[in-house]
Amino acid sequence: MNALVTYQVEDNLALIGLVRPPVNALGQPLRAAILEACERAAADPAVKALVLHGANGLFSAGADISEFGSDASFAAPDLPSLLLRLTRLDKPLVAAIGKLALGGGLELALACGYRIGEPGTRVGLPEINLGLLPGAGGTQRLPRLIGAKAALDMMLSGTPASADRARALGILDRLSTSTESLLDEACAYARELIDSQAPARPAASFPAPAVGLPEDFLARFRQDNEPRWKSRLAPRLVLSAVEAACLLPLEEGLAREVALFKQAEASAQSQALRHVFFAEREAGKVPGIDASTLLRPIRKVAVIGAGTMGGGIAMNFANVGIPVTLLERQGQALDRGLSQIRNNYGISVKRGKLTEAKLEQRMALLTGTLDYADLADADLVIEAVFEKMEIKQEVFRTLDRVCKPGAILATNTSSLDVDQIAAVTSRPQDVIGLHFFSPANVMRLLEVVRGRETAPDVLATTLKMGRTIGKMPVVSGVCFGFIGNRMLEPYAREAHRLVLEGATPSQVDGVLTGLDLNMGVFSMLDLAGVDVNFLVRDSNRAAFAHDESYCRLGDELYALGRYGQKTGRGFYAYEGRNRQDDYEVVALAERLAGELHVPRRPIGDQEIHDRCLFMLINEGIQLLDEGIALRASDIDLVWINGYGFPAHLGGPMYYAEQLGLDKVLAGINHFRQALGEYGEMWFQPAPLLERLVAAGKTRIETI
Ligand code: 3HC
Ligand code: NAI
Repeated sequence: MNALVTYQVEDNLALIGLVRPPVNALGQPLRAAILEACERAAADPAVKALVLHGANGLFSAGADISEFGSDASFAAPDLPSLLLRLTRLDKPLVAAIGKLALGGGLELALACGYRIGEPGTRVGLPEINLGLLPGAGGTQRLPRLIGAKAALDMMLSGTPASADRARALGILDRLSTSTESLLDEACAYARELIDSQAPARPAASFPAPAVGLPEDFLARFRQDNEPRWKSRLAPRLVLSAVEAACLLPLEEGLAREVALFKQAEASAQSQALRHVFFAEREAGKVPGIDASTLLRPIRKVAVIGAGTMGGGIAMNFANVGIPVTLLERQGQALDRGLSQIRNNYGISVKRGKLTEAKLEQRMALLTGTLDYADLADADLVIEAVFEKMEIKQEVFRTLDRVCKPGAILATNTSSLDVDQIAAVTSRPQDVIGLHFFSPANVMRLLEVVRGRETAPDVLATTLKMGRTIGKMPVVSGVCFGFIGNRMLEPYAREAHRLVLEGATPSQVDGVLTGLDLNMGVFSMLDLAGVDVNFLVRDSNRAAFAHDESYCRLGDELYALGRYGQKTGRGFYAYEGRNRQDDYEVVALAERLAGELHVPRRPIGDQEIHDRCLFMLINEGIQLLDEGIALRASDIDLVWINGYGFPAHLGGPMYYAEQLGLDKVLAGINHFRQALGEYGEMWFQPAPLLERLVAAGKTRIETI
């Protein structure tokens, strides 16, 4: 028998185990092996029922993502045909779902007549995250099993259901009492089916999917959700497939699903999202550390500063059951910080995402203190005090005195030099930057800033810890602003300069949100605070002393007290949630343009796109060349998870590759000439971009 499956016949049962580590991805060889094993069982008169399981304890994570876009994806036996064949076996088939069944893995289980999970089993259809829809019967069989509404929720969120939820929904018929007993209980289940002469499929398994729903349910669903989907294709295709499930007989629905799946698979959005999937896995592979690097245990955490960031950071640890000591300078600030955390949890309770009991459990993990002595047993300390080098250095001197040997000392600085902070301690090898993004309990990005002397095990431990608390950790070297904020600088510079030249904030932001970015530059600044941005800029004036012109707009708004949303006025004027361009800002831009001799003219949307995006891309390429970013795809992850760059465009580096590196370079050179002195100053192509284009490369890599 093929080595990708195990095959055993015991007491009239054929046990077929999938063996394709690490996740039993259903690539062509495994599909062929499953088919061969099932045909063998079908043909063996001694076999009365089949049990399909993951021989390594995990059922299957679905189709092999690396096959998409190649001939192998639909090479025989393709997944839909294999599963159709399974549904036509005239012997009962039990899926024993260990750990997880995702995507095609769940579809495989749905093609079995009977399903049993274990207590920790998770099942889901996460294809949407790859810009796909379930393409092997999921969109047709799941609605028929659990109803169109619940199926749409699963497919559009991509979030797997727990064993209990899957049992309640009817996706799982049974749950084993333990992980160890799953296979035995699956076999017992199969024997019961044989004894009771159960049919290959339960008689009432597939009722009409739209039963109990209003007639216009799908039309209303589409109307309500379209704005949220922006230009994403996959949710629309999922809905079309579910419409087919509601309207068409199974076989026609399945054919419709295959056609929609092929459309999704070939789409640029899915290709970009597949790039992101593999980028996320690559990001954990860092030179100098590997699986053999011993990790330091993180059982107790301390956070210094209970302000905006400190509170959010502390919540991340409490959420996963790790106790946190929160240190402040004064009791009042501490109380304020702790009650802000309670408020934040309270909002989750109101939204039904957390129970009161869980809220109390989490609050009980948080201890406030004003005394550094209470940090003596912390395994990890994260500093989140004011963004001033002297204050941070003072904090690290104190930490060096009070913390136990081996404690990891991290700073959440957003711009300061981690090496200068490490240098005031006697243990720079234990110091690292952990740059969380605001709100720190929500945003997924975590820039892990590797200092000159940071020890490999400190880096490995913080990367692992980042994943434990649900973040997307990306390694950055030390430089002003690290990866994300350093790229933000030239991108935002162009946005400001374009307003001086004649665009309005809403025109600039409109072009960027038109690309599906979550927010434009000016809405982002108004949200983060014009004052906060001013203070960061102020700490680094020397970096753009040779041309501060574009900063003048922000500086003057700061001087006017237009701090953004919090003051009702910033780059925009706000009325409640509505915002609009403000005459005062336009007049200010006109005045500044006059003073700075910047000619004003109508600006086209394409110019806004090219200038903002090309400068963003150029800086990213420069960061790669400097070794600040390890790989182009890490930069994509930073911008997707920290700055709202749409994942379905793959991130700025991937987007540049799709635009064409030669076009990006030509655009930068064009603006260098077209924008006179300003162009000459700022539109300097990154040397790596020039080298890549000269070498005829289409991918961004170091050469
Ligand atoms: N295909 C190919 N490779 C896969 C894979 C898949 N479906 N799922 C995981 N892998 C690979 C990863 O790339 C990684 O490889 P590497 O070690 O070489 O980097 C390895 O398996 C381990 O994966 P993770 O590092 O992600 O391990 P975790 O334990 O953290 O997570 C997981 C495991 C939850 C299964 C996670 O990998 C995951 O979410 N995988 C994707 C699941 C998915 O999206 N399935 C749907 C596929 S599309 C589909 O089925 C279409 C169908 O409807 C026709
Ligand atoms: P904040 O002003 O909201 O909070 C800082 C807190 O630190 C205050 O509560 C203050 O009382 C406390 N503090 C100051 N000095 C202290 C000391 N010596 N010991 C103990 N506590 C002290 O500031 P915020 O926004 O939380 O920023 C903190 C750090 O996080 C800064 O380095 C900032 O650059 C960084 N950061 C901020 C982001 C943001 O969006 N606000 C994003 C990412 C990083």
